[in-house]
Amino acid sequence: MNPAFSVPLPRAWAEIDLPAFERNVVKIKASLPAHVRYISVVKADGYGHGVAHIVERLLQCGIDSFAVANAREGSDVRYIAPQAEIAILGPTLPEEIPQALADNLTIAVSDADEIRTLARIAGTLNRRARVNIAVDTGMGRMGIWHEQAESVFSAVADSAELDWRGVFTHFSSADSSPEYTELQRARFLAAVKKIPQARRESLTIHADNSAGLETFSRERPFNAVRVGILQYGWKPAPGSLFEKISPEPVLSFRTRVGLVKNLPAGTPVSYNRTFTLEKDSRIAVLTAGYGDGIPTAASNRAEVLVRGRRVPVIGRVTMDQTLIGADALPEVSVGDAATFIGESEGSRISIEEFCSRSDCIPWEALVSITKRVPRIYRGLRIQ
Ligand SMILES: Cc1ncc(COP(=O)(O)O)c(C=O)c1O
Repeated sequence: MNPAFSVPLPRAWAEIDLPAFERNVVKIKASLPAHVRYISVVKADGYGHGVAHIVERLLQCGIDSFAVANAREGSDVRYIAPQAEIAILGPTLPEEIPQALADNLTIAVSDADEIRTLARIAGTLNRRARVNIAVDTGMGRMGIWHEQAESVFSAVADSAELDWRGVFTHFSSADSSPEYTELQRARFLAAVKKIPQARRESLTIHADNSAGLETFSRERPFNAVRVGILQYGWKPAPGSLFEKISPEPVLSFRTRVGLVKNLPAGTPVSYNRTFTLEKDSRIAVLTAGYGDGIPTAASNRAEVLVRGRRVPVIGRVTMDQTLIGADALPEVSVGDAATFIGESEGSRISIEEFCSRSDCIPWEALVSITKRVPRIYRGLRIQ
């Protein structure tokens, strides 16, 4: 049993540092100009952190605007945040619309067909649907193509069943190409200019995510920003609006040593024998695998921290177990924690390092920690 916890540790767990999350949120909020709304992106179970605790903490920090991927996620957030503005970022299927309306979610629309369907269902249910118009400025995903946006603007504005709340676009390369981001921004601004000024002033207008570049350094109509990964402790782009913010890591991902054994030189380990012991060796079997969120790409590449010491993953990661070399750990014993992401006795493996050794990106690593891995919260406030 780890003295930090009053219950036995599980076989694998994600530790969520809520006070660190809160400090990130407070810093981000303080860095925004007063007229700019902080829309917290909490899709995919709050980027794998557990949406209920994440939304609770955001509400305590004064954040009242959320973005989710779909209606189902929106309904979960509505349960916790009865007064908040909750925007769906992806397409809403016709059969999801009644629940989305009942929960007062703001539905993103991209074309005339979606607008007609939404207005018809809202009319039948005697409700007004909250709507954000998505504009495609070069991502090729959600939204009306920017050159055709005007017709969608008028269709929403003219509908009695629709309550037009905002307009947004999404950048494809904000973390890698300032030039392309500027092109997308210019396209978006040209489209937004076609909205009559009085109407425009009533809308929430946003484009930037955590990597958005210098949006507010010039006189522009943006009045919100959609913040995802930055609040969870990773900064994707130096030189962004959030340049001065150094977020703190929030999530640690750990498992345990389940077995320690000695094997003779020449023994191949794990499936398909991709690693062979060169000498008589001590190895340890960890109690987590790709069924918990350790990518198979980490096979023979990742490192873990045990008792503050780095040791290599050897052989293929399997569904429930991962093997590590333990020659450098003479005192290792069953039950020891093994850290894939996070700190151990003064050493740290960052999420960047974990990703670079596992062929994935931080967003993906966080949301890939599976549901059999319990989330353990530090700094929980019991209400
Ligand atoms: C439309 C949209 N806006 C904002 C975000 C948040 O991005 P980030 O996590 O990089 O801040 C995402 C994330 O995938 C998104 O799809």
